[in-house]
Amino acid sequence: MSNSTKPFLRALSGEILTPPPFWLMRQAGRYLPEYRATRTEAGSFLDLCYTPDLAVEVTLQPLRRYGFDAAILFSDILVVPDALGQKVSFKEGEGPVLPPIRSAADLDRLNLSGFHEHLAPVYATMAGLSKAIPATTALIGFAGAPWTVATYMVEGSGSKDFPNAKGMMFSQPELFARLMALLTQATGDYLIRQIDNGAEVIQIFDTWAGALPELEFDKWVIAPTRALVERIRAERPGVPVIGFPRGAGVLYKRYVLETKVDGVSIDSSVPLDWAAAELQPHCTVQGNLDPLLLVAGGEALDAGIDRVLSKLGKGRFIFNLGHGIVPPTPPENVARLAERVKNWKG
Ligand code: CP3
Repeated sequence: MSNSTKPFLRALSGEILTPPPFWLMRQAGRYLPEYRATRTEAGSFLDLCYTPDLAVEVTLQPLRRYGFDAAILFSDILVVPDALGQKVSFKEGEGPVLPPIRSAADLDRLNLSGFHEHLAPVYATMAGLSKAIPATTALIGFAGAPWTVATYMVEGSGSKDFPNAKGMMFSQPELFARLMALLTQATGDYLIRQIDNGAEVIQIFDTWAGALPELEFDKWVIAPTRALVERIRAERPGVPVIGFPRGAGVLYKRYVLETKVDGVSIDSSVPLDWAAAELQPHCTVQGNLDPLLLVAGGEALDAGIDRVLSKLGKGRFIFNLGHGIVPPTPPENVARLAERVKNWKG
């Protein structure tokens, strides 16, 4: 299948398409009854991630309903620490829990031996998807960016302000640098394997990028992301990379210019005129409808969609949300969004 027949890949290579291609972050998930059924069949969330037949099935579920232009591998950013030896579990209603990394001794217990063996089911899911998705649908592989994954590894759970991760960054800089180097290596190895199993695009999720001051943003968001982009370009040329430094504000611009990503996913707080003027000339922009408008539905949803399309649809653009779909989202509102985007005439 040549790239030119997949609208999503055409948009990432710089074409302006009307209507733009679209997909939604967390398009597979708890808002869909068929996801909840497959999830129950799998047992735990991580069992679902590590069972290729079921992970392929939940990836395909939203495509069948809504005809998105891209499928995203069903997995999680935290399979990387799990594969490095830091056992991850998901507590019902609480999110992820890990034994925290706080000292050199904790970090010394993690390593890359057995990494790809642990992740073999994820690679098998990718290979299965590569055969199963429609011919015009692009296949996205992904990983968490090193900083965002490090926050979970050091805090040992989700967090609002990252006292331990930032504490290590500021008070034990050598230890933090060692953790980030391990994560950058592991994440690169993981993404290359995803590409070798069929991923056509890579998205790097830096969900907590917005928590860092300028200098730390340069060092721990931009530099590792640029290293990952450079490695993918060198080792697997032609595979585009989308970066999502959520909450980066005006630093989105430096992120785009310095990481050299092909696409940037913007959160809902980024002003559309600013994104059109400052980001779209440099790369394809993806975003940024507020996920809560998808819960609200009705005219508020329609107006939100139209505003994003009219401000960004004249440049290089992929329609998406500013962050993932939330569980209370009515599936019929997603259908309404899909129809409206597909029927946009510019
Ligand atoms: O987008 C997709 O459809 C692909 C799958 C995907 C998941 N997580 C599935 C998931 C992707 C791309 C992710 C990325 C991810 N995971 C991020 C970065 C993007 C973002 O949303 O900010 C982060 C920070 C995580 C870590 C994570 N995973 C948390 C904090 C949680 C718990 C919160 C929650 O929503 O329950 C998860 C669990 C998770 N990852 C679920 C899904 C479908 C829900 C698990 C369930 O079924 O119970």
